[in-house]
Amino acid sequence: MYAQMIQSEATTEDAEQLAAFQARIDAGERIEPKDWMPEGYRKTLIRQIGQHAHSEIVGQLPEGNWITRAPTLERKAILLAKVQDEAGHGLYLYCAAETLGISRDDLTEQLLSGRMKYSSIFNYPTLTWADVGAVGWLVDGAAIMNQVPLQRTSYGPYSRAMIRICKEESFHQRQGFDIMMKMAQGTEAQKRMAQDALNRFWYPSLMMFGPSDAESIHSTQNMAWRIKINSNDELRQKFVDQTVPQAEFLGLTIPDPNLRLNPETGHYDFSEPDWGEFFDVLRGNGPCNADRMEARQTAWSEGQWVRDGLMAHAAKKRARRVAAE
Ligand code: 3HC
Repeated sequence: MYAQMIQSEATTEDAEQLAAFQARIDAGERIEPKDWMPEGYRKTLIRQIGQHAHSEIVGQLPEGNWITRAPTLERKAILLAKVQDEAGHGLYLYCAAETLGISRDDLTEQLLSGRMKYSSIFNYPTLTWADVGAVGWLVDGAAIMNQVPLQRTSYGPYSRAMIRICKEESFHQRQGFDIMMKMAQGTEAQKRMAQDALNRFWYPSLMMFGPSDAESIHSTQNMAWRIKINSNDELRQKFVDQTVPQAEFLGLTIPDPNLRLNPETGHYDFSEPDWGEFFDVLRGNGPCNADRMEARQTAWSEGQWVRDGLMAHAAKKRARRVAAE
């Protein structure tokens, strides 16, 4: 339906303008906020960047859950810095979305009313300290796999935000791997905890890349516009190929009996995640969907006095400036 909507809007736009726009994309030029763009391109970017921003913000919750229980002061400081980085990523991305003519308040309202999504992965709980390691290693690892190509995305503000975000994500991935290494080299109980975290986070991490290419609604148009550089399945395969040797290095077992290196393709064959579970999580039925939304709704309503104070301060400053002129 969304694709149809984009198409019908596109037919009303001048064919020459559309062709010139596509030629700029094909030539690898960046599109900037004041440039002409098709309405479908603008809406799709708002959807993708908005969802991405919300994911960064909601993504603070599962790890934030462990800040008070980090096993050492050093681990606590690292985790605090990581969670703060995620807030920063959300803010860069909201700023990038705002250049497309939507306000941050509108984006937030769409998240809180359930009209805008955030990544499925953040609807899974972090039950043990090893889960914090698995989130850094697998979830940030999957995020980087998706986001490195997005540094070359066609929309300038999004591409520039991604360059900065990717630098920090790569530190996040390493801190996660470091936690997993400590656990995997630790006591038998710690090793079991690390394996259990991998068992629970493996398939949800594969789902982060989105449905299979055959089921993806937006990929074809988004790849033509270079909003998306690779297909969902391409990135999922790259992630598996990169992660299997890391799991072997840790001495952990990926919970997939069908996993094997295919000598003909040079890639790992692997089992698909349970797509029924994925779509169910998207419909709001994951283990933590209700908790995540409640946490965001509470944060928004409890932050009202801060927003009111800031607006009042800005209004006062404006009034003073006008009076002085
Ligand atoms: N979680 C929730 N929804 C998902 C999803 C996921 N993992 N994967 C796909 N979907 C949704 C899509 O949004 C779309 O629904 P919509 O039409 O209602 O918006 C539907 O499923 C069909 O999927 P498509 O493949 O057609 O959608 P896209 O072409 O948009 O591809 C995507 C999905 C690959 C996630 C793409 O949007 C993308 O690359 N987004 C930017 C990256 C991003 O959002 N990352 C968030 C996770 S990581 C993170 O932010 C935190 C980090 O610190 C760990």
